[in-house]
Amino acid sequence: MPADNLIVGLDIGTTKVCAVIGEYNEQGSLEITGVGLCPSFGLRRGVVINIESTLRSVAQAIEAAEMMSGREVGSVFTGIAGAHIEGINSRGVVAVTGRGREITKEDVDRVIDAAKAVVIPMDREVLHVIPQEFIVDDQGGIKDPIDMIGIRLEAEVHIITGSVTSAQNLLKCVNRAGFRVNDIVLQSLASAQAVVSSDEKELGCLLIDLGGGTTDVLVHLDGAPYHTTVIAVGGNQVTSDLAIMLKTPQDAAERIKKESGCCYMPLVESDEEVVIPAVGNWPAQAIPRKEICRIIQPRMTEIFKLVKEQLQKKSYLGMLGGGIVLTGGGSLLAGTAELAQEVFGLPARVGYPARFGGLASEYQSPIFATAVGLVLYGAASAAADRYETGPTKRTGEGFIVKLRDWMKEFF
Ligand SMILES: Nc1ncnc2c1ncn2[C@@H]1O[C@H](COP(=O)(O)OP(=O)(O)OP(=O)(O)O)[C@@H](O)[C@H]1O
Ligand SMILES: [Mg+2]
Repeated sequence: MPADNLIVGLDIGTTKVCAVIGEYNEQGSLEITGVGLCPSFGLRRGVVINIESTLRSVAQAIEAAEMMSGREVGSVFTGIAGAHIEGINSRGVVAVTGRGREITKEDVDRVIDAAKAVVIPMDREVLHVIPQEFIVDDQGGIKDPIDMIGIRLEAEVHIITGSVTSAQNLLKCVNRAGFRVNDIVLQSLASAQAVVSSDEKELGCLLIDLGGGTTDVLVHLDGAPYHTTVIAVGGNQVTSDLAIMLKTPQDAAERIKKESGCCYMPLVESDEEVVIPAVGNWPAQAIPRKEICRIIQPRMTEIFKLVKEQLQKKSYLGMLGGGIVLTGGGSLLAGTAELAQEVFGLPARVGYPARFGGLASEYQSPIFATAVGLVLYGAASAAADRYETGPTKRTGEGFIVKLRDWMKEFF
């Protein structure tokens, strides 16, 4: 029998599928009790292109996590990414009509409905509607307007949409592997839960999740998301560049990248050498590590510059007091934080999932940011359900998650 107190994050990535099992211990705090990993071959640039292959990886990853935790999984929170993801900002206005002009939850529902009444093409669906701020009679910056008195209520929201078929294919893989999907969550929103602090979100922060097939970008300003995109280039491209330039197979290039790669020249000593293994009639040879850096650095710079251009267009670059957080497997490449710092002119760090008990050493890598974040997202979602039935306790985060629940009708 699947245990119903588990919160399971399932990250279906381009290079790996990863399942993380969270459960509450006797003291009531969340612990990670299982982590399962399986290589992924059924995705291209973040999107499922082979159902059979993906569902096998899903089943194996969950089975491995179940073995570790000794629990049976029934349902999961899964992530979505791909170049089809789009984020837009929108605004809605309503009149406050109730007794004494006191703003009620119904007013908030109506203003959110008004804000999300934007034209969305038939082939896309709304994944998230996240309030950024409420404005009551021209007074902005309000996170929770309920019980305030006013005549006019406005909401600014961030709406994230994605391709209907991509979401359906994800659902199909998980369902056919034998699991229910509680929710589909944008991968970068999940990663942010795990590696970006609330302070950084308040100060303004750029999250870049450097995956194998995609680079996911998420900007938080004043604690809420304002900009979301997914760029269809990731670490696999860096490996391909190396394979082509060094005339070596992909798996050798991948190993060289992980063991000796670097994307920031000042970090490489001039006398360091790297051995390129023999291929066919070509003998093994040693080349300067600087040569490897000369191949990788332009590709990583290109990815960062693409992101920078997007932010410059929206004038967000000057609003990032919390700096840059890099995560995903690509952030393990030596020099990513230094290069990002140089390209953006902002402080950058590599984001490791926050420690919250359990098998900390098993998930302490940027590779697990999304899966751990999905568990945190699931936990916040359950907490939001609990507080909604309670008295007047309300938090911004809970609000967001609750809204997500209302959007389930779209699936
Ligand atoms: N130590 C390392 N040094 C450099 N690159 C690394 C290292 N470890 C992993 N990577 C790279 O990270 C990428 C995989 O990252 P990650 O596991 O976050 O991707 P994914 O979630 O499977 O893919 P995506 O999110 O794009 O769908 C690969 O390109 C891999 O080469
Ligand atoms: Mg990923």
